[in-house]
Amino acid sequence: MELISFKKEMHAQLTESYPKNEIDSFFYRLLDHHLGMSKMDCALHPNRRLSISQLNELMSALNQLQKHIPLQYIIGQTSFQGSFFHVTPSVLIPRPETEELVAWAIDSAQPPSVQRILDIGTGSGCIAISLAKAFPEANTTAIDISKSALKLAKQNAVQNQVIVDFQCVNILENQSVADSYDLIISNPPYVTFSEKKQMNANVLDHEPHRALFVPDSNPLLFYNAIGSFASQHLSDNGLLFFEINEQYGKSVVTLLKDLKFHDIELRKDFRGKDRMIRAKK
Ligand SMILES: C[S@@+](CC[C@H](N)C(=O)[O-])C[C@H]1O[C@@H](n2cnc3c(N)ncnc32)[C@H](O)[C@@H]1O
Repeated sequence: MELISFKKEMHAQLTESYPKNEIDSFFYRLLDHHLGMSKMDCALHPNRRLSISQLNELMSALNQLQKHIPLQYIIGQTSFQGSFFHVTPSVLIPRPETEELVAWAIDSAQPPSVQRILDIGTGSGCIAISLAKAFPEANTTAIDISKSALKLAKQNAVQNQVIVDFQCVNILENQSVADSYDLIISNPPYVTFSEKKQMNANVLDHEPHRALFVPDSNPLLFYNAIGSFASQHLSDNGLLFFEINEQYGKSVVTLLKDLKFHDIELRKDFRGKDRMIRAKK
């Protein structure tokens, strides 16, 4: 089969499930991953013939896309802050809004005053590893409840050539992390179960529910726990960063005021939704 014919086949098979531009994006990312070809290479050689093994790999990916498996899980990797991260269904696929949160943390933090960093709910390790790269002199710790996530995060730290201290901790129960930190950051689970009905199958059926959901009866579960943890474990003037559910920006601000944080700022993401908060102890 020729490249251009495979592209047509992808559109024919996926058109009911995905918008046209997303199918094009899948096509070019698969080409890059499996054939090392760029969009320009494809434009120059649309009639290039695929070998049997290449075609098998691409068809297998197409088959998985039809089952709504996210492309990042199919190819086993994603990029975040310009670096590559392995991803498997045991971790949330890092999102662009989380890149914005990390960029904000990097802009806000001054290296001599940020020596100890803690990432709570590290998943793939994308936040902790990006901060460890930005602040190579700092000691970075990352915790998660999921052993399989931590295993993958450790591989990502090795791949990205940084040292991060990964620990298995349930932040809701076991707050035995004794140290003090200059920067605490978290993108905790924040989607309420009732929001499930607005979610796409690729997220709902394939990403880990423990990374996503909180009960409707207690949507601020993690913000309460992490906020009170941070009020005890942040150094004076230490910074707390949260990614948040757009519906609860004001509630998280109030929660942090009650915990005596100051200089609290609520920021929107690139889609114009309240998505992140910075506060000072
Ligand atoms: C929204 S994901 C964020 C993953 C990653 N930091 C990112 O931004 O892509 C939330 C993470 O919190 C972890 N988590 C859930 N409950 C937890 C708990 N009680 N204690 C510690 N981590 C928890 C999940 O395993 C998941 O990796």
